[in-house]
Amino acid sequence: MALKQSSTWVALEQHRQALAGRHLRDLFACDSSRFQQFSLELDGLLLDYSKNLITAETLQLLLELAQQADLEGWRERMFSGELVNGTEQRAALHAALRSSDQTRLLVAGEDVRSSVRDTLTQIGALADSIRNGSYRGYAGAPISDVIHIGIGGSDLGPRLAVEALSNRHDGPRIHFVSNIDGAELAACFSQFQVATTLVIVVSKSFTTLETRANAEAVKQWFLDAGADAAAIQRHFVGVSSNREQALAFGIAPERLFPIWDWVGGRYSLWSAVGLPVAIGCGMQACHELLAGAEAMDEHFLQAPLAKNLPILLGLLGVWYVNFMGLRSHAVIPYSERLRQLPAYLQQLEMESNGKSVDRYGTPVDYATVPVLWGQTGTVGQHAFFQALHQGTQPVPADFIGVAEPLPGYEELHEQLMANFFAQTEALMHGQTAAETREQMEAQGLPADRIEALLPFRIFPGNRPSTTILLRELSPRLLGMLIALYEHKVFTQSVIWRLNAFDQWGVELGKRLADGLLPSLRGGSELAAHDASTQGLVEKYRSWRAGTPPRQHD
Ligand code: F6P
Repeated sequence: MALKQSSTWVALEQHRQALAGRHLRDLFACDSSRFQQFSLELDGLLLDYSKNLITAETLQLLLELAQQADLEGWRERMFSGELVNGTEQRAALHAALRSSDQTRLLVAGEDVRSSVRDTLTQIGALADSIRNGSYRGYAGAPISDVIHIGIGGSDLGPRLAVEALSNRHDGPRIHFVSNIDGAELAACFSQFQVATTLVIVVSKSFTTLETRANAEAVKQWFLDAGADAAAIQRHFVGVSSNREQALAFGIAPERLFPIWDWVGGRYSLWSAVGLPVAIGCGMQACHELLAGAEAMDEHFLQAPLAKNLPILLGLLGVWYVNFMGLRSHAVIPYSERLRQLPAYLQQLEMESNGKSVDRYGTPVDYATVPVLWGQTGTVGQHAFFQALHQGTQPVPADFIGVAEPLPGYEELHEQLMANFFAQTEALMHGQTAAETREQMEAQGLPADRIEALLPFRIFPGNRPSTTILLRELSPRLLGMLIALYEHKVFTQSVIWRLNAFDQWGVELGKRLADGLLPSLRGGSELAAHDASTQGLVEKYRSWRAGTPPRQHD
């Protein structure tokens, strides 16, 4: 049956109309147990969803929608290694990477548990030897700097984790290089010595243009410094599912780690892609990260739907996108160490669910993923919060805070957290005309000034937000947080009937870029391209060469 024709969908649309006009302020005023009713805690992670535009009935209907979509069945299929990624005929078993369950787990007849364990042991040994200085470079020196080359899922996860755990970082410095404008590489080349630098090349396909180009540039840097093929082997580590290409590039087989077909790039932090965390913070931190993610997996599998954190988070998103018509979602971590979280979630959510045909190839007639964006608080307060509070488009937002301060910065932390709590209250409650007038009267403003300023100083409120409060930013809680969002995305994909694990939408641009590269170098005709692209490339070529562009008639 078409999703929008289902009785639950229709009931949710009617319910949304019935809710129109209810203000969050009133929902709180008439129910003193709203926080208790709409918040849940799991091992130091508190999810407060009480400041959302929902009632118990909303949740009831959304849970029915989840059941109707067979969320429990799809969850079971994913965890048992079925080929839930239909277009690529692959399983999506990232949860197996963090599972301590001894039960045999088969993917296409292969028990994957032992290869997962072996890889963990190997990266642990490599990380330990780098950290304790016993791993030596070609000139006999220990490693002081690591350049991690990768993009998208081969970059964002370790980048997020290394920054989030920076207070535990006691190993070599880690530098991430993903873009190909040379800026990140230039910074590395000007600061590091080849003799003390280790390079990790991460690419599931090992064909990604950016990663290949950056890896070649770093290899050239080594060659220019006099390193030979054996030295390069010593200094390069690979993580890929394309063994052949990685070996051909010059990675030594003993330092080439797998990404399995059944692990999507944006779900790969839990594999050898997480090596920078092991090198920077030690293998113990990696184990804690994995254990945190596993705890969230268990919760996702076992908790009843109505008490299931990722499911609730996913359903709230569906409510806003499909029934309230809100197509934008903000992620605002009040922690500088979580500053990569919006970028990480952008890929996780938008690459997974940014689709307009369902898993059967049928165009959908409902909205799917919202535009996800964000910035740390309080930095964002001084940039886009004006629009969050008084703009015409309400933007549901996730606020993520950490209770434990950085040692020595307790007072700053208190000020940060006062802002954290104040913002969601302000968004929810707003400030009525009467309250605004009263405030200005208390400030002693003259009556005519008060009336003139009044419309500008009213806050409508009723702006939904979800708060995630972590007891501390430990590896374990970070693992829980990331897995929470992974399963949120999966939940939404099931409701929207999408395959969350392919990404065909990135292909066209890549192919066109490949075709345009010779034209940029002047070697091929532009006639096949549209007039705008022709004009832009010609201007680019002329500016690069100092020659005038062809005149258009
Ligand atoms: O952007 C497309 C994409 O394929 C992502 O899905 C992936 O995370 C990224 O490129 C990098 O791919 P690879 O690990 O194969 O280099």
